[in-house]
Amino acid sequence: MSIKETLAFDDVLLVPGYSDIATRADIDLTLDMGSGSVMSLPLFAAPMDTIMSNEMARVVHQSGARGVMHRYCSVEEQVQLLDGVGSDFDCLAAVGITGDFMDRAAALNEAGVSGICVDVAHGHHASVLRAVTQLKLVFPKLHVMAGNIATLDGFNSLADAGADSVRVGVGGGSICSTRIQTGHGVPTLQSVMDCAKSGQDCLIVADGGIKNSGDMVKALAAGADAVMVGRMLAGTTEAPGEVISNPGHAPVKVYRGMASPEAQIAWRGRYSSNEGVSRTVTLKGSAREVLFEIDKGIRSGLSYSGARTVREFWAKSRFIKQTSAGAKESSTHIDS
Ligand code: XMP
Repeated sequence: MSIKETLAFDDVLLVPGYSDIATRADIDLTLDMGSGSVMSLPLFAAPMDTIMSNEMARVVHQSGARGVMHRYCSVEEQVQLLDGVGSDFDCLAAVGITGDFMDRAAALNEAGVSGICVDVAHGHHASVLRAVTQLKLVFPKLHVMAGNIATLDGFNSLADAGADSVRVGVGGGSICSTRIQTGHGVPTLQSVMDCAKSGQDCLIVADGGIKNSGDMVKALAAGADAVMVGRMLAGTTEAPGEVISNPGHAPVKVYRGMASPEAQIAWRGRYSSNEGVSRTVTLKGSAREVLFEIDKGIRSGLSYSGARTVREFWAKSRFIKQTSAGAKESSTHIDS
């Protein structure tokens, strides 16, 4: 049996190249989602109940990014959450693939969402392909995001079914235990590199395990059009959840995987699979500041390769593989 070697974010670096970019403002990160929604920061906030709130949707929109409202509530509650966002703000919203998902999609469409996200852990699945086909048939003008998948085959299948964007990454999320529980997954960076070979007119959204703007820059260089994050927005003021004081330490909020027992019990009173964990994260202020830093980091990243747009970045960026000594040198190491 031949086994493919794969690369994760920390295995690689981008080689600095000639640049004549004077300021970060000269870099254009615009992403046109189609259906009238244009982003100036190619980032989506994950459809998770400890990430997405109406405040989060507003702040990410104001930062040029977009939120995806989670589906872990009744249709009425999800529509209410979207109503709370306000109509001047673009937001996508998630649906599943069983039961009332088409009714939910109709209600979300009526509420004015800029896209529907078919939100399933294993997106390379006959039921997901059927759901995407059905959604595109009934709502041909609506942006349909689907996922998650880890392979080029999975990406092409969803694109063939009509998906406008695909969440690429299985098991890499900071709160995921899919790889531990099931032995399945592919490092997110590798999945992005594989899917970038597609040539289909479908956006790649790198999703899972993105720790910092450096990882985002690597995902974009590998062929992603956008990234999706949970952990980087967890613990912000706009993330839902009570602030838990922690004597002698900074206060925290809960951040949990949607397949964790805790999340499932909270929304349907029981749990079936156990492919996620629940943790606390230290409060980190407003998501606005986090997104501001991310925006600066991505712009700097493109300028190190002399690229003014993400498309130019795909052509100009050059990866190298680093050793474990290189990875150690790449992180701050003043105390070592
Ligand atoms: P980060 O690393 O940004 O990842 O926190 C967020 C992404 O993780 C996925 N997700 C899960 N994956 N079990 C999983 O295997 C879960 O319980 C779970 N919850 C979220 C999802 O793709 C999200 O965008």
